[in-house]
Amino acid sequence: MDIQHKAQARCSWLPQLEHAEGALYKALVDQIAADIAAGVLAPGERLPPQRLLADALQVTVGTITRAYREAERRGLVEARVGSGTRVRGHHSETPGFHHLSRAGDGSVDLSLSIPIPHPLRSEQLAAVLERVSRQVGATECALNYQSEQGSLQQRDRLAAWLSSQGLEVAAEELLVTVGGQHADFLALQSLIRPGEAVASDALTYPGMIAAARQLGLRHLPVAMDREGMRPDALERLCQQQRIRLLYLMPEHNNPTAAHMSEARREAIVRLARRYDLLILEDGVQYVRPELRGTPFFRLAPERSLYIFSVSKILAGGLRYGVLRAPANLMPQLSTGLRAQCWAMPALMGAVTCEWLCSGIAAPLIDWQWQELEARHQLLRQVLAGYELQAHACGFHAWLHLPEPWRAQEFVQRAAQRGVTLISPEPFCVGSQPAPQAIRICITPPAQREALQIGLERLAELLAEGPPLSAALV
Ligand SMILES: Cc1ncc(COP(=O)(O)O)c(C=O)c1O
Repeated sequence: MDIQHKAQARCSWLPQLEHAEGALYKALVDQIAADIAAGVLAPGERLPPQRLLADALQVTVGTITRAYREAERRGLVEARVGSGTRVRGHHSETPGFHHLSRAGDGSVDLSLSIPIPHPLRSEQLAAVLERVSRQVGATECALNYQSEQGSLQQRDRLAAWLSSQGLEVAAEELLVTVGGQHADFLALQSLIRPGEAVASDALTYPGMIAAARQLGLRHLPVAMDREGMRPDALERLCQQQRIRLLYLMPEHNNPTAAHMSEARREAIVRLARRYDLLILEDGVQYVRPELRGTPFFRLAPERSLYIFSVSKILAGGLRYGVLRAPANLMPQLSTGLRAQCWAMPALMGAVTCEWLCSGIAAPLIDWQWQELEARHQLLRQVLAGYELQAHACGFHAWLHLPEPWRAQEFVQRAAQRGVTLISPEPFCVGSQPAPQAIRICITPPAQREALQIGLERLAELLAEGPPLSAALV
């Protein structure tokens, strides 16, 4: 055997670089990123020694050194004296930065809309669990059946907290749900019959699309602009067919970050009254009171439902939300909930209400607003010059890709560079074509530095442009 074949036989991992274009060291780094994303390279796995890989690929040691150094700069691997270069493990942390690391495989996740990881979340929850276990009456309440709307005492507390945040509601108007998604589903299932039509922004929350589909509803898209749903497009649709319910995210559309002005809200309310539409406002993408517009249940209380959940401010795993509804719709919603599960478990409600309403959560929520502000600033810096739509409280921004990028290809290329994104397809209602734009979530990385690395990789990709595609024969 010659040197090359001997070296190849000894390499635990061998990249395929025969068709690589451009600088070899870059192709090698892209291959490392792609193999980490695909699970071919596991966290902690050692890359072949530089000399050995150079012999196996018949390149200079300098090329391998440069590639490994670049892979380290991108956060894919870590080099340790004496133990070689290894794929970054689950617990590699930047010294001096106290947040827990989530991804750990070296790739940066910018695809999920989740609260920013922070050790305070589990610390506070542990303290709250202990407090609740010692509260008089709490365990008894947890053991007893509750009304369909949920424990009145807990709804009272939550109503007071929501009112203190500028969302004035009364306990009787609330029904407790298993998070925001359940509230969406329950409202559609209880109030709309199969075959009837609901309408939403053409780009909307995929959970709503899934719920409408599951329930056999006709889900119609309405054209949008920077403020979300366009009243002229809605009016045309209402003139053509009977719509029962409008689903809206006026504060912060997921995924486009569109925010509705007061004038736009009033125009939508006029149409809702003229064409007798229910309004389902989804407030799960929670916005600070100072930056919030008037909720629809204040503008048109007789026909508006509102969804609040703690998923973005405390934790998605709590599965705790509430649906605000006008009194005349509550019997139908209660009947729907009873048919599903009787009522929500009071224990989870007790824990969540104690965490949120006792003030324990306040420093965590404040920290998250501050951190979000810093992350938005970073986003604007790193992607300066590109068309970005964002809201100051938003967990995500909407990036319009410059010509001639196509969203699908951008997502694939980003994955090869170790950045996880999702394509815009799941947000499209019906058979609407997907725009060449990408939702970038800025909250999943525990460390701001990791977000910066992810954004810089995207900026590099944008600056390079898409690769030239081969002509079809
Ligand atoms: C607009 C919107 N509604 C509902 C949900 C689901 O919320 P929950 O986790 O409380 O079910 C999400 C989650 O991202 C969302 O973005």
